[in-house]
Amino acid sequence: MFDFNYMVSTKVLFGRNKIQMLPEELKPYGKRILVVYGKRSIKKIGLYDLITTLLARNSLVYYELSGVQPNPRINSVRQGIKICREYHIDCIVAVGGGSVIDCAKTIAAGFYYESDPWDLFHLGDSAIKNALPIGTILTVTGSGSEMNGNAVISNMETEQKLAIHNDLLRPRFSILDPTYTFTVSTHQIAAGIVDIFSHVLEQYFSPTREAFVQNRIAESLLLTCIKYGPIALKEPTNYEAQAQLMWTSSLALNGLLGYGKITDWATHGIEHAVSAAYDVIHGVGLAILTPHWMNYVLNEETNYKFVEYGKNVWNIQEGNDYTVAKKGIEKTQRFFKNLGIPTTLREVGVTEKKLNDLAEKIVMHKEIGKFKKLGKKDVLMILKNAL
Ligand code: NZQ
Ligand code: ZN
Repeated sequence: MFDFNYMVSTKVLFGRNKIQMLPEELKPYGKRILVVYGKRSIKKIGLYDLITTLLARNSLVYYELSGVQPNPRINSVRQGIKICREYHIDCIVAVGGGSVIDCAKTIAAGFYYESDPWDLFHLGDSAIKNALPIGTILTVTGSGSEMNGNAVISNMETEQKLAIHNDLLRPRFSILDPTYTFTVSTHQIAAGIVDIFSHVLEQYFSPTREAFVQNRIAESLLLTCIKYGPIALKEPTNYEAQAQLMWTSSLALNGLLGYGKITDWATHGIEHAVSAAYDVIHGVGLAILTPHWMNYVLNEETNYKFVEYGKNVWNIQEGNDYTVAKKGIEKTQRFFKNLGIPTTLREVGVTEKKLNDLAEKIVMHKEIGKFKKLGKKDVLMILKNAL
């Protein structure tokens, strides 16, 4: 285990009706609030009315940025910064999933940045010197954004989807009420389950051999997805299933699994480029790519990790090491397929002639991945296999 500093500063308010604590949680930050949300879902479930009533009743003044799209665009961020400056916003409340939260985080950082916020994605994490406080109300499970300092934004003009990371972007509080997820479509629930699964795998498949506690926690999060994912799909109003998945999602990407070890993130790197070019749902892209990444990086040197995965996660106890590894990969692919997700890039609109461009963009001048380093040729092969 390597040395690390651990900080998870987000206050989590988990359970039914925790929304009632919203005004109290906002008190330390001021009276002028920007509420950021997506299209229709929060109005349909009555959450919009609930929030605005609570704010008004507590003399909090609110402004709105609505229409934030899945794979949130830099243009929404620009719009949000403008509102914050014009109306002297003190605090941002993001109501939605990863897209809305990431948009809110980038607005929070961009508010203090004098030039265009897209610069922040090229300048590196230290360019963020300050950020408005944000709180979140989660309505869809998967991204883990509710408890971390990451934000991922798309620029459709440059066909890029890039991330920033900074502790200043961690939400001050997050309200996690699983009942808000009861109306999420099965397609989106499935994508969220894969996103959680992938966040765990990106940290589990690591060249750091001494990470016993991190690996066992990771396996228990994967087992939770395998147990409760299909239940949530079948019965979206099953509170226990949605609650288990919601908390697993937050734990999967709040730092708990990654501290003290090296982590991979190659599959996310590849998927973000596919999403940027084809506007694919993040979890769908991951479900297609992950088994192909696994098959590609499996070799004599990496086999030990796949054996650990096959035995501890999929309970494959028979056969030689190679068979266990291969069966584990097959089970992973079947799990994603049974969630109703496409299995090829072609099905989500990707064409062969674009693959070379994509690989070039993904790798640029340096290799990606830490469990197994991948150059352009490797990434291109994974994309071709996934097509
Ligand atoms: O726009 P509305 O009408 O709200 O509909 C949304 C949206 O279409 C819908 N939805 C949300 N709550 C609902 C609901 N529908 C019915 N009932 C509800 N209660 O769900 C759709 C998808 O929302 P989105 O926020 O895009 O989903 P998710 O949470 O999966 O976020 C995906 C984004 O997060 C990024 C992804 O790249 C992607 O852009 N990620 C962020 C990370 C982070 N910040 O740490 C890490 C991840 O790896 C990921 O990259
Ligand atoms: Zn993800």
